[in-house]
Amino acid sequence: MDIEIFDSAALATDKLSELLVERVQAKKDLKMGLATGRTMDAVYHKFVTKLSEKKVSCINILGLAIDEYIGLAVNDENSYKHYLNFHLYEHLDFVKSNLLVPDVHAEDLDEAALKFEKVVEDIGGVDIQLLGIGTNGHIGFNEPGSAHDSQSRVVGLTSSTLASNKSMFGNNEVPKTAITMGIGTILKAKECILIATGESKASIIQKLVNGDISSKVPASALKLHKNTKIILDREAAKLI
Ligand code: GLP
Repeated sequence: MDIEIFDSAALATDKLSELLVERVQAKKDLKMGLATGRTMDAVYHKFVTKLSEKKVSCINILGLAIDEYIGLAVNDENSYKHYLNFHLYEHLDFVKSNLLVPDVHAEDLDEAALKFEKVVEDIGGVDIQLLGIGTNGHIGFNEPGSAHDSQSRVVGLTSSTLASNKSMFGNNEVPKTAITMGIGTILKAKECILIATGESKASIIQKLVNGDISSKVPASALKLHKNTKIILDREAAKLI
């Protein structure tokens, strides 16, 4: 794992957004695995700004949501589909139909998860997989205990994840289930980049960086991937 530490969250998100622009410049039809969450807000904002400044076309960028909540209404603003449209696919010349999200409104959710796994395969795999990390080590919604070869599937969310994500739901309940790409799905990407900023991530980053590969820390599976970069700010890196 290649680890880069920046003095501030702003510098860390600058770096990641710049790197993403370079990847799009090198491959116009880049296939991006897209994480969500508060850390990604600034990354996507800066990515869109830089794409615009450099007049890079987004018309062929394919995005695959890494996960999606089950049980929200189609137009719910807390859905990750809404998040990714709001931050990326409603901007510039991004094409909304190029954003692929697991079909959490299907009657058979297990089948919908299998179909999503097949979509990842059919497009020829993800070029660059963006990842945040939960304070319990989850990537996507692969909670502790997820197998390293797990595929896209329906999962239950832990109480720690429900508590962490509550601030985004106001008075509404955080859904307790989701469809997520599996860890095995994530590891098939050609390149993985995980970003973590802020003190609240310091303890899990310490376990990830200094600990062994273990399903107790799902993100540690990234150590099995030959092309993984971890981007941190000083706060998130302070215990390593
Ligand atoms: C959610 C997402 C994850 C993301 C995590 C971190 O649980 N499913 O993909 O990595 O949040 O979010 P934040 O950046 O808000 O800490």
